[in-house]
Amino acid sequence: MAEIKFEKVKKRFKDITVVKELGLTINNGEFFTFVGPSGCGKSTILNMIAGLEAVTEGKIYFDDTIVNELSPKERDVAMVFQSYALYPHMTVYENIAFPLMMKKISDETIDAEVKRVAALLGLEEMLNRKPRELSGGQRQRVALGRAIIRRPKVFLMDEPLSNLDARLRVEMRAELKRLYQELKITTVYVTHDQAEALSLSDRIAVLHQGEIQQCGTPLEVYLKPANIFVGGFIGSPTMNFITGSVQNLQPLEINCNGLIFSPVLESLPEKNSVIMGIRPEDIIVSDEKADKCIEVTVSLLEPAGSLNWADFVWKGVKMKGNAKADLDIKAGKKAFMKLPMDKVIVFDRDSGRRL
Ligand SMILES: Nc1ncnc2c1ncn2[C@@H]1O[C@H](COP(=O)(O)OP(=O)(O)OP(=O)(O)O)[C@@H](O)[C@H]1O
Ligand SMILES: [Mg+2]
Repeated sequence: MAEIKFEKVKKRFKDITVVKELGLTINNGEFFTFVGPSGCGKSTILNMIAGLEAVTEGKIYFDDTIVNELSPKERDVAMVFQSYALYPHMTVYENIAFPLMMKKISDETIDAEVKRVAALLGLEEMLNRKPRELSGGQRQRVALGRAIIRRPKVFLMDEPLSNLDARLRVEMRAELKRLYQELKITTVYVTHDQAEALSLSDRIAVLHQGEIQQCGTPLEVYLKPANIFVGGFIGSPTMNFITGSVQNLQPLEINCNGLIFSPVLESLPEKNSVIMGIRPEDIIVSDEKADKCIEVTVSLLEPAGSLNWADFVWKGVKMKGNAKADLDIKAGKKAFMKLPMDKVIVFDRDSGRRL
């Protein structure tokens, strides 16, 4: 097990900087996720930890040791990639045993280790099969088995579930979590899927163009996004953003589409104009007029089981909220929404920073 520390780490490919200046400590035994859109530098960071990609500037430490110059083998990491290439001609047993067969270890020890890992991953019944005789999820488990059999110091995973269909992905997510809870090995995980990041991790770092926008627990990042980018990236469906204008500073009054908000902020707006963020899950759309609700026109309904996501227009502003599936709400008709005044997040318009 190891703590991983980045000290002013930069990565350039020729003259393009893809990781700007990374300073971060991943704690011993932590499940840490880098999440962000395609091309933001996630795999590059993971490859630098693994030793597959050189660091351009700065240092990476495993505990107190600088690992910049160490080979992947010397770093004692195990990596699972998106394309979990198994050896097609080998059985599940041989695929899992492979990393140990490369070492001078007795057959009995290898056998015991393969059985331990197979039991952990529910693969005991499949040890004699070839990869082609397995489902996608089972193959992914074999790839995980091959990675954990070595009991590495650090476990690195680059989008390991992205080859699986949606349902299997959610199942494997739960299995990964269970596996991690049993092993408690420092795990660095990379995904572009914010839901995966939120559900698996102790902490996540949200990356954008090679820079960490925010690092925190899933709940912190969800409830208190550092800026508009994080607010828009984390959470699904995407947060609504509406322009507001500051009418009064003390007490604070923000006019948003004709409605006055008085949110409690950590810092006061410097400009007249701010951006208000409201999550669709916090906006309740109803077919009945109730106290303090606002009339809107529904434009689209997206069924999602017990609720519908409802796109609507509020005095010219397009927004999304949620409505119970059994209500009488239809596209093109009027409905009523309730805005959660206490859940509104306010951002500085220029910098995008949360206030
Ligand atoms: N060997 C390379 N040479 C030049 N540019 C590279 C190289 N590898 C990666 N890049 C660039 O660095 C940036 C970050 O790439 P990286 O693979 O880390 O992104 P990512 O966040 O993993 O994206 P994805 O979600 O698509 O896998 C991209 O703009 C990519 O084009
Ligand atoms: Mg990648």
